[in-house]
Amino acid sequence: MQTSGRQLKLTAFCHPPGHWRMPGASPTDMDFQECVHLAQVAERGKFDMLFFQDSAAVAPAFYLSGGKAEALAEAARCVRLEPLTLLAGLATVTQRLGLVATATTTYNDPFSIARKFATIDHISNGRAGWNLVTSQNVDEAQNFSAAQHLDHALRYERAQEFYDVVSGLWDSWEDDAIIRDRQTGRYIDPRKLHVLNHKGAHFSVRGPLNVARPPQGYPIVAQAGSSEPGRELAARTADVVFTAQISLEEAQNFYADLKGRMARYGRSADHLKIMPGIRYVLGATESEAKERYEMMLAEASDEGALASVQRLCGDLDIRRFPLDGPLPDLPPSNAAKARQKMMIDLARRENLSIRQLARRFTFSLGHLVHVGTASGLADMMQTWLDNDAADGFTMLSPYYPKPLEEFVATVIPELQRRGIFRAEYEGTTLRENLGLPFRTNRYVGLRKAVNSG
Ligand SMILES: Cc1cc2nc3c(=O)[nH]c(=O)nc-3n(C[C@H](O)[C@H](O)[C@H](O)COP(=O)(O)O)c2cc1C
Repeated sequence: MQTSGRQLKLTAFCHPPGHWRMPGASPTDMDFQECVHLAQVAERGKFDMLFFQDSAAVAPAFYLSGGKAEALAEAARCVRLEPLTLLAGLATVTQRLGLVATATTTYNDPFSIARKFATIDHISNGRAGWNLVTSQNVDEAQNFSAAQHLDHALRYERAQEFYDVVSGLWDSWEDDAIIRDRQTGRYIDPRKLHVLNHKGAHFSVRGPLNVARPPQGYPIVAQAGSSEPGRELAARTADVVFTAQISLEEAQNFYADLKGRMARYGRSADHLKIMPGIRYVLGATESEAKERYEMMLAEASDEGALASVQRLCGDLDIRRFPLDGPLPDLPPSNAAKARQKMMIDLARRENLSIRQLARRFTFSLGHLVHVGTASGLADMMQTWLDNDAADGFTMLSPYYPKPLEEFVATVIPELQRRGIFRAEYEGTTLRENLGLPFRTNRYVGLRKAVNSG
């Protein structure tokens, strides 16, 4: 196959425990050593980053069902380690792997988020990344003193300002502002300290941050929203975009649309890496992969599958409709607009019943699914890379750690053989490995700043 000379970027997506009853599966949810193992496997495979998805609520369906929901595959996602704390731990047992976690702008405050990611960037010597989300899980609201989930448009308005405050705080200290001069006793150079004094519609934050300039300038900022306001926010602020695209053509449209928006913010299209997700099931042969896939599909109950699509159905109770009938028209969702549209499109395009749609969606998490061999997967990744559909991929393991171990043992060498994936890390920071410049809004020290708008 012809190559364009470009190289793939790779994210290992963590959403444990997944199909935890499969042979070779470990939960990888509450056991730190299991997380260490996963990180070390990803680093052995020269992945750019390991990414922990997150939300801060246990769905009431699991404890209000009178025990009926306790054995659902989805109930297994009820417990997890707080991911920023986890990243700090993983930073000490890895050397080159980027470490990324979700933190929501809807139920956090910007000073704390700026401080925590700056700290992880220092602990890891420049390998931290923040997946900025506005929260797709409506159940978070009541854990943070809100009666209801904030409206979608308002969430994004808040997210825009949240980013400005966080990035402004990361610019508090110039590179050489902390001098610690033993001779004179001067600890800081106040001329190189910038007080933010931010006053806006949502936040009032004086600053400065009490953590020195992060090693990457700004830790990597990732995003995963695909709605109109989500794309605008990403075009202005993101270094990486995780996305769910299920056909080459849709992925090309998304890629062109998002990169096309960046010039308005004075940004180069190369400074944003778009990484669609792939839910992958590998086998030594097609039939072995298919067998594993069928095993996992068989695990899902109708009730569990329905629970996982219900959140995209607005206030319509999908359980009231015949399971073998078509998906009814849905009212708007306040949870995830682009995701809802994708689900409706899939149901209409393939004429799926509610039951079929729910099972498919539960397994795929809304992403492209590959069931097959390592070389088949490498073919697809190469095609998307060469046809402006992706800069890399977010690999969604169906369970942990075996599929990732197999990916590293079989797909990575195949990608390397084709010259589309690194044999060694290019740099020491996540930015360097992603091929992204040091980022700041100020001219700092001797480094050339990238104006990110
Ligand atoms: C790969 C991927 C990972 C995501 N991780 C999270 C997450 O950790 N927490 C969260 O609340 N939403 C997460 N989302 C959802 C998005 O942040 C976003 O809410 C969703 O795609 C809907 O965005 P939209 O309303 O702009 O379409 C993720 C989405 C994708 C594609």
